[in-house]
Amino acid sequence: MQLRFKERLGRKFDEEIRFFKGWIDGPKRVGAILPTSGITARRMASVITPKTGLPVLELGPGTGIITKAILQRGIKPENLVSIEFSTDFFQHLTRNFPGVHFINGDAFDLQNTLGSFKDVQFDAVISAIPMLSFPMERRIALLEDLLDRMPHGRPVMQITYGPVSPIVAKPDSYRIKHFDFVVRNIPPAQLWVYTRP
Ligand SMILES: C[S@@+](CC[C@H](N)C(=O)[O-])C[C@H]1O[C@@H](n2cnc3c(N)ncnc32)[C@H](O)[C@@H]1O
Repeated sequence: MQLRFKERLGRKFDEEIRFFKGWIDGPKRVGAILPTSGITARRMASVITPKTGLPVLELGPGTGIITKAILQRGIKPENLVSIEFSTDFFQHLTRNFPGVHFINGDAFDLQNTLGSFKDVQFDAVISAIPMLSFPMERRIALLEDLLDRMPHGRPVMQITYGPVSPIVAKPDSYRIKHFDFVVRNIPPAQLWVYTRP
């Protein structure tokens, strides 16, 4: 029992050290100082509806905390497509989550990055991309592109740490909903959901 606890603790520190190394290499690309908490990850994955049978698209999985929550929500590994820019995180993820379609590439260039998944409709997008590190025009363009890859009304879930939506309002194009504020996350996290009106 105690050994299992020690193993779990060891693994958690491994994740944090890996995350911190990623942060040293590119603080703007990583965008946070610690991995997302399990509570936040589960809140983000809660918008997925596994019964649609459609795949889920994840952006910026990092160490894989949110990937794990998506799978626990009932999505089969082969029904999850996940884009990670960092090759180090990517290699770690492919080892830890067999069957998930990880892509080592840029989420802002979906048409190329998605490869054989470029014409697929997704049930939901779960994103931990550090939006605030990118110019607003690129954030809007990415959101529009994502919404075009999902049935009407399905959500793009985005985590951020600022007090306002990281993507400005465009009421003719999409709706913005503040989904949650999760205090049990370092730093506390804001969750935003974007849908087509
Ligand atoms: C805040 S971290 C994600 C943390 C993750 N939820 C965890 O707990 O480990 C942001 C992630 O987005 C990735 N990222 C940044 N820019 C990206 C891009 N353009 N395309 C894909 N991934 C990107 C970073 O490499 C990093 O893994």
